[in-house]
Amino acid sequence: MSGSGPSLSDVRPVDARWCDEFRRDGHTVVRGLLSADELSVYRPAIEQAAHRHAWERRPLDERDTYGKAFLQVPNLWQHDPLVHQFVIARRFASVAAQLLGVEGVRLYHDQALFKEPGGGHTPWHQDQHYWPLDTDSTVTMWMPLVDVPLEIGGMTFASGSHRLGDLGRWQIGDASEEHFEHEVQARGLPLVQHGPFAAGDATFHAGWTLHRAPANPTSTMRSVMTVIYFADGARVVEPDHAHRRMDLALWLRGRQPGELADGDANPLLYHRAQP
Ligand code: SIN
Ligand code: NI
Repeated sequence: MSGSGPSLSDVRPVDARWCDEFRRDGHTVVRGLLSADELSVYRPAIEQAAHRHAWERRPLDERDTYGKAFLQVPNLWQHDPLVHQFVIARRFASVAAQLLGVEGVRLYHDQALFKEPGGGHTPWHQDQHYWPLDTDSTVTMWMPLVDVPLEIGGMTFASGSHRLGDLGRWQIGDASEEHFEHEVQARGLPLVQHGPFAAGDATFHAGWTLHRAPANPTSTMRSVMTVIYFADGARVVEPDHAHRRMDLALWLRGRQPGELADGDANPLLYHRAQP
C-alpha cells in the first residue's frame, strides 16, 4: 500500500539536548515535526480513517474511565494508504531511533487517540505493561493534529520514572490512577507537560515512563495520532498476562516467544545503515 502524500522519507536530525532529555527524563518534545502543508493532507486522512474504523459507539456517560478517555483506533496503517505513509514515515522513525540511541527501529503499532469534547482524563499508566518485548528501548510518538491549548492539555510525564522499569501489573483505569498518583508523590518525581502544542509538534515518551492526561472540557475534538517503535533486534517474550497475550496476537503476528520481533506486522522503519 503506498500513499501519494507529501514525502516524509527524510531523516530529521535531533539536537543532542533533546536526546539527553529523553534519556534522563523519559520524554521530550520535537516542535514542528509535521508542517502545516503536510498536515493539510495527513490530518483529514487520519481523522476520516479513525472515524471509519472506530468501534466505540456508546455515549460518553455509558463508558468506564478508560473508555471515556479517548476514542482509541489502532492499526490504521493497514487500512488507508495515506495513513500508511504517515505511520511508516522515516522522518518520525529516525527521531525515535536517535532518541533511543539505537541503529534502527521497527513499528509496534499505531493508534489514533481522539479525546472527545467532554472526554475524561487519561489515568496514570505505563504503556509497556502491554508489550511482550525483551527490550526497554521502546518509544511512543504522540502527535496532535490540531492545536492543543493548555486548557485541553497534553500529557503529564513523571520525569525519570522510565528508569524504575516495570512498576507492576497496573492496567490503565481508576486503580492505576490511584496507585501511580501515590507512587509519583511518594517518590517525589517531577511532573512535566510540554504544552501548549501546535498541530504537528510531537512528544516522545519511553515505554516505562509514567504518564497521564487531563480531561477535555472544550467543545473541540483533541485528535492525536500515535506511533509506537521498538529497537530493531528485540525479541518476543512469553506473555505473562492476558493483555500481553492479546498484544502478541494482535501486533506481533507470526512471531513466537523467543523469536526476533521482525515479522510482516513490524516493518523496519529506519536503520542508520540504510541510505
Ligand atoms: C492521551 O492521549 O490522552 C494519552 C496517550 C498515551 O497514553 O500514550
Ligand atoms: Ni500511554
